[in-house]
Amino acid sequence: MPAQHPPQKRLIVALDVPTAAEALALADSLAPQVDFFKVGLQLFLDAGFAVCDALAKRGHKVMLDLKFHDIPQTVALATAQLANHDIALATVHGYPQVVAAAAKTKGRTKILAVTVLTSLGREELAQSGFAGSLADLVRLRAETSLAAGADGIVCSPLETALVRKAVGPKAIIATPGIRPLDSASDDQTRTATPHAAVKAGADYIIVGRPITKAASPITAAREILDEIG
Ligand code: C5P
Repeated sequence: MPAQHPPQKRLIVALDVPTAAEALALADSLAPQVDFFKVGLQLFLDAGFAVCDALAKRGHKVMLDLKFHDIPQTVALATAQLANHDIALATVHGYPQVVAAAAKTKGRTKILAVTVLTSLGREELAQSGFAGSLADLVRLRAETSLAAGADGIVCSPLETALVRKAVGPKAIIATPGIRPLDSASDDQTRTATPHAAVKAGADYIIVGRPITKAASPITAAREILDEIG
């Protein structure tokens, strides 16, 4: 995304709330400052595609973050279900077989491959059997996912610069793990500020709790937009 792109186009707010009513109330309170929203597992399991459709009907862009990771046939058929809905971005885990299956049936939706969850640190990776460095794993998953047909990558802001270098200027990079200086890290480990993420090459920053749990979500969103503006 060009550097001069307006900050509003770069912010995706994660609607991590339990019901469609809460999600839509939150989205309405943030519009028109924010027009890109992420629907994740919690919300989707309650509200399904209906909440995605309701957001799209309001003119918002939707990122569906269900992080598919299954056998190719299952991933391809699940991804094909997106075709009847206005889903701008969808996520799968960054394994070449998974990405290739999703890319085959994605239709108009762009597929983003998750490299390594931003909540994971070195120790958790070692516990999962990955002996190498986190940076090497992120780079490998980014490169192989792009080669398998991903349109972009989800990675932590700490690895955004190395991913940008690995995937080139055209691939989309979206970074969760965003924490303004004064906010709690919660369960996120590999975090950075909104400004640092964009400076490192992120097209989109994905922000949940620093906005949704703020006393005034719209104020928190405005502060973040100012920071990346
Ligand atoms: O509340 P917070 O800002 O930590 O929310 C980040 C959002 O991004 C969550 O919805 C989480 O599921 C998602 N996410 C993430 N790390 C990834 C991919 C997605 O935190 N690697």
